[in-house]
Amino acid sequence: MAELKRDELSWLEGDMPFSERFGDHFYSRADGRAECHHVFMGGNGLPERWNNAGNFTIGELGFGTGLNFLETWRTWRACRGPDQMLDFVSFEAYPMEGAAIARALSRWPELAELAELLLEKWPALTDEPDRWAMDGQTGLTVVAGEALNGVRNWNGKADAWYLDGFAPAKNPEMWSADLMQAVADRTQPGGTFASYTAAGWVRRNLQAAGFAVEKRPGHAGKREMICGVKDA
Ligand SMILES: C[S@@+](CC[C@H](N)C(=O)[O-])C[C@H]1O[C@@H](n2cnc3c(N)ncnc32)[C@H](O)[C@@H]1O
Repeated sequence: MAELKRDELSWLEGDMPFSERFGDHFYSRADGRAECHHVFMGGNGLPERWNNAGNFTIGELGFGTGLNFLETWRTWRACRGPDQMLDFVSFEAYPMEGAAIARALSRWPELAELAELLLEKWPALTDEPDRWAMDGQTGLTVVAGEALNGVRNWNGKADAWYLDGFAPAKNPEMWSADLMQAVADRTQPGGTFASYTAAGWVRRNLQAAGFAVEKRPGHAGKREMICGVKDA
């Protein structure tokens, strides 16, 4: 088992983590939880698509603080039917220390109970992917390591992707043509993605990989975001 790689973090006002390695924030400075709803859930048609789903799988590039996972899980718990299962599979090269996750998430009291459950599991994270049963209807798998390797080696398929690398100019590997192709190859027919960035080359990589891409108004005054559907 290899040792996990770590990023160097600094902290901005409001317990907002900042990546020194990439020179970027982990989520919207306005409100990361609202951004999750607008960009990642809204762009993938959630929670509405859960109405008709049996098992539903979400893939994420960049677990970070776990905010997207926790907010998705919180919403899922409120909406799900009795026989439905959600799997959340997230690819993360530099997993944060539990104490840093706790500090970042302390900003959202709505998530305190679920954050505690995540932090109970977190010390078990290794570079060998393991599915954690977060409750009887929710699985979480954090795949530690470079996303391109992780996605290529993943033998699942997602119904929806949260593309949440740092800004493309600062973190181009997270938006490369190869990675976007690997994502598309591991998307169910009719499956979707959403991203807060509308950078032209990212859009083109996703189109070349097989997604029909749409621009929408972004979160908190950002002009645009993108989302898209893979041909059924
Ligand atoms: C914008 S943050 C993700 C925020 C996260 N979704 C959340 O809810 O807090 C981007 C994440 O991508 C990770 N990352 C950057 N480059 C990566 C790579 N090549 N492979 C996998 N993860 C990477 C960073 O360590 C960081 O945690």
